[in-house]
Amino acid sequence: MASSVFHAPCGAPSIKQLECQKYVGLRPSVTLRFNCVKTKTVTTRRLVVTASKSHDGTTKKLGISDAECEAAVVAGNIPEAPPVPPKPAAPAGTPVVPSLPLSRRPRRNRKSPAMRASFQETNLSPENFVYPLFIHEGEEDTPIGAMPGCYRLGWRHGLVQEVAKARDVGVNSVVLFPKVPDALKSPTGDEAYNDNGLVPRTIRLLKDRYPDLVIYTDVALDPYSSDGHDGIVREDGVIMNDETVHQLCKQAVSQARAGADVVSPSDMMDGRVGAIRAALDAEGFQHVSIMSYTAKYASSFYGPFREALESNPRFGDKKTYQMNPANYREALVEAQADESEGADILLVKPGLPYLDVIRLLRDKYPLPIAAYQVSGEYSMIKAGGALKMIDEQRVMMESLMCLRRAGADIILTYFALQAARCLCGEKR
Ligand code: PBG
Repeated sequence: MASSVFHAPCGAPSIKQLECQKYVGLRPSVTLRFNCVKTKTVTTRRLVVTASKSHDGTTKKLGISDAECEAAVVAGNIPEAPPVPPKPAAPAGTPVVPSLPLSRRPRRNRKSPAMRASFQETNLSPENFVYPLFIHEGEEDTPIGAMPGCYRLGWRHGLVQEVAKARDVGVNSVVLFPKVPDALKSPTGDEAYNDNGLVPRTIRLLKDRYPDLVIYTDVALDPYSSDGHDGIVREDGVIMNDETVHQLCKQAVSQARAGADVVSPSDMMDGRVGAIRAALDAEGFQHVSIMSYTAKYASSFYGPFREALESNPRFGDKKTYQMNPANYREALVEAQADESEGADILLVKPGLPYLDVIRLLRDKYPLPIAAYQVSGEYSMIKAGGALKMIDEQRVMMESLMCLRRAGADIILTYFALQAARCLCGEKR
């Protein structure tokens, strides 16, 4: 079962963090303190113990030894303690019924915030998040209409600030998505492996500023393709597999050369993980990891992302390479290939509509599992919140927790900063 111990990255008490979404909701409780008071009596010293609700913690000690306390009790001089409170009254009209003869009442383990906290099976931490960031060549940050709160960040300014904010609350992993100028797009997407292109340049800048930042990159041709497809398109519309893989290898090596920690093929071509592994190794990048988009579905939930990057396919759809949303067993075929080809992390995408697939891969493979809460999932929660139809913050936290419960170790989410701030107890 996915779970991890929470490490507060920002020094905030963990109770506060959990309270944020009432997953636990621990509150300071009234503690009863027992005051041992000496009173003078005729025959023997009498102990009176009273309960006090004082919070000042300065209970007076009267210097009675343990032995004296024990002797008093043995002598039948029992100190007083508060009585058991009376049974709370039910509202008038409550039917009087015999108790159900239940040997198991699961509500017993949920009866208080502290007990619920004790038995919580899954935890959420900023360390589980990978923050996807859109970058462009501009100096300004441009809002993305379909993704409220997300921007195409200037690679030299806004991006660096956003990464700093994320690190402040314990999110130290990012994945970069470039908006490439149309003039640099081509049918073969060669800009993807330009060592001085936007992504490699940005990686070098970030690594210079934050050497311990974990940088994931996207490996696919769509931001660079004049056709908006993840691969090279033949004149009859067929996406050419092996030729695309050749380009992807060059792209991954270029990203690794710039300092990427994890390259993430999201293209869904066959055989790309093995080919990229071999290409990386041949260039001395044995230490660079591969997070494979193992089960990436041809989903309508990617709409806002494609708007963000202006990367909509110019024609057709991605159904000849991305998976059919109706398929479950097929995810095992993809996972087998990726595992045997050397993937380090298996990713399922989208997230929430595909919890069964996350659980499937979690149960069948020992590798770490990533879930991608994609743009459409993010925008739906944002829109529902803006319309006051749902509580945005609570739905956000619940959706992330559910991805963890289904078996995801890490979650790529546009909510990374907002959720981490919430976990750190910040109200912003
Ligand atoms: C492209 C890519 C896509 C996303 C991540 N990488 C879009 C696509 O496959 O069309 C989608 C992410 C999102 O919707 O948040 N290789």
